[in-house]
Amino acid sequence: MNEESHGIIITGAAGGIGSATIARLAGAASIRIGLLDMDAEAIDRLVAHYADAPCHMIPLPCDLQDAISIAAAIDRFAESGPIDTLFANAGIMTAPDAFETIDAAAIDRSLAVNLRAVTLCTRLAWPHFRSGSAHVIVNASGAGRHPLASDPVYSAAKAGAIMFARACAARRNETGIRFNALAPGVVDTPILRDPRTGEWRGEVRDFAGEYQLIDPDEIAVAALRLMDDPDLNDQLVSIANRRRDTPPSTTPAPSRNA
Ligand SMILES: NC(=O)c1ccc[n+]([C@@H]2O[C@H](COP(=O)([O-])OP(=O)(O)OC[C@H]3O[C@@H](n4cnc5c(N)ncnc54)[C@H](O)[C@@H]3O)[C@@H](O)[C@H]2O)c1
Repeated sequence: MNEESHGIIITGAAGGIGSATIARLAGAASIRIGLLDMDAEAIDRLVAHYADAPCHMIPLPCDLQDAISIAAAIDRFAESGPIDTLFANAGIMTAPDAFETIDAAAIDRSLAVNLRAVTLCTRLAWPHFRSGSAHVIVNASGAGRHPLASDPVYSAAKAGAIMFARACAARRNETGIRFNALAPGVVDTPILRDPRTGEWRGEVRDFAGEYQLIDPDEIAVAALRLMDDPDLNDQLVSIANRRRDTPPSTTPAPSRNA
C-alpha cells in the first residue's frame, strides 16, 4: 500500500452522511478510505458499489460501543499506512420515547456512541496519525449547541463531543493535530426515523412542515472544506435548515477527482 496516499477513517460510514462523504471522496486515486460501521453488510455493499472507483476502500466492521472492536478496526486500517483524517461521524438517537420512560441501557448506548466513541477513536488512532498534519472532524449536531428537548441525552453527548474537539484543538501547536466539528441541523437520513415503524419521528414531521431537510451531501461538502484547508482548527461549522420558501444554495462544492 502507498504510504503517501491520504488515509481517512469514516465512522458511521454506511449511514446517510457517511455514505454521502464517501461519494465525494471516491473519485481520488490517492485516498485510502476506512469504512467503519457496525452494519457489515452495508459496508460491503458500498465497497462493491465503488469497486471500479480509483480510491482504495478498506471495510472496517466495528461496534463503537466496544473499545476492543474499535482498536482492532483502527489497527487494521493502519496496516495500509498512516491516518491523515478521522471523521468521527457515527451517532445515534437515544430512543424514540420520552426521556422519563427510557432505561439505563439506552442512556449508556447513546453516551457510548455519541461521546465515548469519539474520544476512544481519537485516542486509539493517535499513534497512527500522520506526524505533524493529522485532522479529526467530529460530526456533532446543532443539538450540541442548542437544547434538543426530545432527546436530552443526545443533546448532552453532542455538547460534550463539541467540547472534546475544542479542548483537543487548543493543543494543536503542541500535537500538530487539527480538530474541527460540524453542527448540522436536521439532515434527511435514516437517523430521523423511528426504528420500530420506519416512519419519521413525530418531532421531525412537525419540523419538516416548516423547514427543508438538509441533503446529506451538504454535510459531506462541509467536511471536505474542513479537510481541504490546513489552517482551519477549532472551527464549529453550523449547517442550518432553510425555511421551505428559500431557494437552494448554488455555491460550487469540492470533490475529489482522480
Ligand atoms: N441526520 C441528522 O438530522 C443529523 C443532524 C445532526 C447531526 N447528525 C449526526 O450526523 C452523524 C451521522 O448521522 P446520519 O444522519 O448519517 O445517521 P445514520 O443513521 O444514517 O448513520 C449512522 C451510522 O452509524 C452507524 N452506527 C450506529 N451505531 C453504531 C455503533 N455502535 N458502531 C458502529 N457504527 C454505528 C449506523 O450503522 C449508521 O450507518 C451522527 O453523529 C448524527 O448524530 C445527524
